[in-house]
Amino acid sequence: MDVFMDKLVVTGGTPLNGTAKISGSKNAVLPIMTASLLAPGRYTLTNVPDLRDVRTMGKLLESIGATTRYTQNQIRIEVNGCRNHEAPYNLVKTMRASIYVLGPLLARFGEARVSLPGGCAWGPRPVNLHIDGLKRMGASIDIVEGYIVARSRRLHGARIPFDVPSVGATAQLLMAAVTARGSTVLENAAREPEITSLAQFLVSMGARIAGIGTDHLNIEGVDSLSAADAVIIPDRIETGTFLIAGHLTGGKIRLENAQPEHNTAVLDKLEQSGARISTGDDWIELQSDHKIRPVNITTAVFPGFPTDMQAQWMALMTMARGTSLITDAIFIDRFTHVAELQRMGAEIILDHNTAVIKGVRQLTGAPVMSTDLRASASLILAALVARGKTDISRVYHIDRGYERIEEKLKQLGADIRRDVEKLIT
Ligand code: UD1
Repeated sequence: MDVFMDKLVVTGGTPLNGTAKISGSKNAVLPIMTASLLAPGRYTLTNVPDLRDVRTMGKLLESIGATTRYTQNQIRIEVNGCRNHEAPYNLVKTMRASIYVLGPLLARFGEARVSLPGGCAWGPRPVNLHIDGLKRMGASIDIVEGYIVARSRRLHGARIPFDVPSVGATAQLLMAAVTARGSTVLENAAREPEITSLAQFLVSMGARIAGIGTDHLNIEGVDSLSAADAVIIPDRIETGTFLIAGHLTGGKIRLENAQPEHNTAVLDKLEQSGARISTGDDWIELQSDHKIRPVNITTAVFPGFPTDMQAQWMALMTMARGTSLITDAIFIDRFTHVAELQRMGAEIILDHNTAVIKGVRQLTGAPVMSTDLRASASLILAALVARGKTDISRVYHIDRGYERIEEKLKQLGADIRRDVEKLIT
């Protein structure tokens, strides 16, 4: 049987020039979509990126009983007749964020059955903090045949100190706590912009949350919530990726619908590495003379340098004039892009969770393979500056998180096209 799959074909060497519009944030819209399960009614979300993960979340909500309608970066969700409180394996395995339905289903219906997400391409991704937190709030949770089976009458408030500030667990427990009896305190909580936007959305539904934007969230449970609308914040990872594309190719780009204050760590590092940056309320401009200085990074929770930008920063550093160190302190195994970048001529030595990158004068095009979302982005970046042609296969990973990336890059002058390749005959 023939199997066909999209690939991207990039011919490197053109400095990017012009303006691109940043899409809504994938990681912000997914929890907000699941929060709609908390109250019946109609929700309208705008600035929604057209991404595979958003469509998958739509399917998941529909399988639960909601209706969703997606048109032109707007999604309408109607949550009235939800009868099926399950997130099946076939959806969860394609999108780990499916686990976000656990808290809202439990809070609203008193039961949930959610496939336990396995590891991901680069290593294990535990969900113990989600489960422990829900247990503290009175849920009974069993793992049965690969599923998290959760039950409770009305959840009750609890003090939940996180060992590590997890984005997913913070969002999960925030959604569970807003209608719990009494108050819940999330200590050492994540304070990424996507958490802040979720908290603000919950407040617009009638939730009572103090400490938004800090690592200490105090939630006073309410008896009921009502449907609300939201405008999704810009995607800070897409923003960072395009800025790196501008610097790497020695270009001049302007990003609109971008939020500089969500990108301070990346902007600082780009300036240290020689890019000139200017910002306004909702735009960022970058100009580069193509002299890339080596700059070390260590990933950290917000407002530190995001792990979701680590692979892209590595692509930049492969062309730096000197040696740099990249340490991923959040996901210590997230380095599948290293071997692919090496195939393009990058000089990288990996030692545990630190990569040592010796800048080279030139990368060369090669057939490479996407292994996960952000690794794919780093390969596209490297391809934009490599000599010759790079074929990047398995780009379905990139479609999970970047809206029309090849169109946006083409608009900035890149030589990039989508093609179909035959995998098996
Ligand atoms: C989210 C983002 C992902 C980003 C990550 C870190 C979404 C849909 N995904 O993932 O793009 O890379 O935040 O910014 O928003 N941990 C535990 N136990 C848990 C949960 C997490 O030990 O139950 C650990 C993880 O292994 C990791 C750290 O906590 O070391 C942070 O992970 P977390 O913030 O939870 O990542 P996700 O929410 O899965």
